[in-house]
Amino acid sequence: MSFTIDLSGRAAIVTGGGQGVGRASCLALAAAGARVVVNDFVADRAAAVAKEIEQAGGSATASPFDVSDYQAVTRAIGAEGIDILVNNAGNAGPAAVDGRGPSVSLGEFADTDPADWERYFAVNLYGVMNCTRAALPHMIGSGGGRIITIVSDAGRVGEPHMAPYAAAKAGAAGFTRAIAREVGRDGITVNNIALATVDTVGLAELARDSPEMRDRIERQLRRYIVPRLGQPDDVSGLVVFLASSAASWITGQTYPVNGGYSVNL
Ligand SMILES: NC(=O)c1ccc[n+]([C@@H]2O[C@H](COP(=O)([O-])OP(=O)(O)OC[C@H]3O[C@@H](n4cnc5c(N)ncnc54)[C@H](O)[C@@H]3O)[C@@H](O)[C@H]2O)c1
Repeated sequence: MSFTIDLSGRAAIVTGGGQGVGRASCLALAAAGARVVVNDFVADRAAAVAKEIEQAGGSATASPFDVSDYQAVTRAIGAEGIDILVNNAGNAGPAAVDGRGPSVSLGEFADTDPADWERYFAVNLYGVMNCTRAALPHMIGSGGGRIITIVSDAGRVGEPHMAPYAAAKAGAAGFTRAIAREVGRDGITVNNIALATVDTVGLAELARDSPEMRDRIERQLRRYIVPRLGQPDDVSGLVVFLASSAASWITGQTYPVNGGYSVNL
């Protein structure tokens, strides 16, 4: 007996696919046979991952746009006929959200300003809504599809000093559940993957400028049953599975990928 996942004939887009979890998801989807559209608002990153896939014999194109720009999202995704949407773009730190300045924790919510909150929502929640809105018409018209959104344990169990990010990620998870209920009849499944701490460039940037963040990661690690940071490939296998026909009766769920962190709660 054997079991393989074959996504050939499927078109997938991974937002924020230029590095970290997004890049690993692009490579894994391509390895399973999907044609992959690599999105990232840093064009060079998207191009590099698309090239990596092509050089490995897969099929990929780069599609640089900002997921928070609804017009750009609609133009790019609408033109592609996407069967598999991986809403991965997002970040906990302002630097990666707007591409400028140091990555810093926002600190105590009581000290923040409403202007600080908006950019977390723009990418982590509205970005997910924009891409989902743009991808659904083709999925509905073609009789099926997969939407997978990368959320965070920060939004599931709460995380101090990250309240706006946690709120945006929890919002994305709630959005997913609502959409799952709307489109199940169309053969479209909609699920979340909730991550704890995964060793990526984004995490390194966040930790580099914040002793408090480094301390928090150390403390969290002590609570992981599998006592190490996650790696992007710890996530990509579940992305491919949820994208496959093997997962066609799984929808509206949030899957923790977190080394067993939340079982301690
Ligand atoms: N790494 C972690 O510990 C961790 C934990 C929980 C959740 N997550 C979530 O997992 C996802 C991936 O995280 P990562 O650590 O791989 O991130 P990362 O910062 O390493 O990579 C994210 C990529 O997304 C791109 N991006 C950011 N904003 C964008 C936008 N508006 N439009 C298009 N592209 C954009 C960036 O350029 C970058 O290449 C994110 O949604 C993040 O919030 C990560």
